[in-house]
Amino acid sequence: MQTTTAFSVHPRADRATSEQIAEVLAAPKFGAVFTDHMSRIDWDAQSGWHDGTVSAYGPISLDPATSILHYGQEIFEGMKAYRHADGSVWTFRPDRNAARFNGSARRLALPEVPEEIFLEALTALVNVDQQWVPESTGGEASLYLRPFMIATEVGLGVRPSNSAAFLVIASPAGAYFASGVKPVSIWLSEDYSRAAPGGTGAAKCGGNYAASLAPMAEGLANGCDQVAFLDAVENQWVEELGGMNLFFVFADGHIVTPELTGTILEGVTRSSLIDLARERGHEVHERKYSIHEWRDDVASGDLVEVFACGTAAVITPVGRLLWKGGELSIGDGESAGAVASDLRESLMDIQCGRAQDTHGWLHRLL
Ligand SMILES: Cc1ncc(COP(=O)(O)O)c(C=O)c1O
Repeated sequence: MQTTTAFSVHPRADRATSEQIAEVLAAPKFGAVFTDHMSRIDWDAQSGWHDGTVSAYGPISLDPATSILHYGQEIFEGMKAYRHADGSVWTFRPDRNAARFNGSARRLALPEVPEEIFLEALTALVNVDQQWVPESTGGEASLYLRPFMIATEVGLGVRPSNSAAFLVIASPAGAYFASGVKPVSIWLSEDYSRAAPGGTGAAKCGGNYAASLAPMAEGLANGCDQVAFLDAVENQWVEELGGMNLFFVFADGHIVTPELTGTILEGVTRSSLIDLARERGHEVHERKYSIHEWRDDVASGDLVEVFACGTAAVITPVGRLLWKGGELSIGDGESAGAVASDLRESLMDIQCGRAQDTHGWLHRLL
């Protein structure tokens, strides 16, 4: 067990029983049930970060005039804790999430969280709720961790809040694809943009996701699972999905992923897959890739696989792209491509401790 300094731990008396936890872990639904506790630490301009606690999970009381409720000054992260076969619990590249969180904080005019405090908040929570981390069963079950920060100043003046709260909550997650990895259908958003130059596209803030919901509803109405966004200026460069980065695999083995332009979120999975793919001998190009190229490359047969990636699903193959009045298919539309499957397994093997962590990507929580 690791000791924490910034957080005092107050275990609740009415914890879930082992039977109740076992029932949740038997069939976890993403983000539906939360563990017994949450971490919280507050910040204000005078005192800095103070009064860190791990205490009972439950509602947060906010004055109706709290700035988060009106102006959306909020950021978050998404991570996972994985139990290895020896019972130890690890997380993946948390330094990357901490750095991205602080990049988001700067963009949203929120205070940065020192990396030690970010890690302590996770460690202390996973420690007290360790029963909620699913057993290592050779599958992909994990405890999803959601660090987030909200502006807590009370008042309707539009200005950076002079106080904030950083919290971490956790929810058991099962296999993203319960019946095997299946390609998804993607809706191409032509009327809505996700992010514009100078905007918040590279930050992980709630507003980006709020703005993606109308196009998502459009996609769902058209039978799609996710939405792909193009750049806001020329409306032709493929950026990413609402919550995942995109990769394109070509017949000669090379891979293209949209370059980081400031309007795309820099995924931890994206960075890791670029490294793993290169180690496997794939040339990986981070460059602009247009929707016209996508259509032409499918027509010519050069583009053989498309996949999306992110912490939640690791890799999701894309089987079809639909837009108003058209669609295209990639591969057989039924099964994951060879490159997507290989990279997915390689990354999950590292995360779950089945393969050696030669990159030093894992961080032990327990
Ligand atoms: C917009 C967006 N792009 C990409 C990603 C993938 O990022 P990561 O691999 O760090 O989970 C996410 C998920 O966090 C996301 O919300």
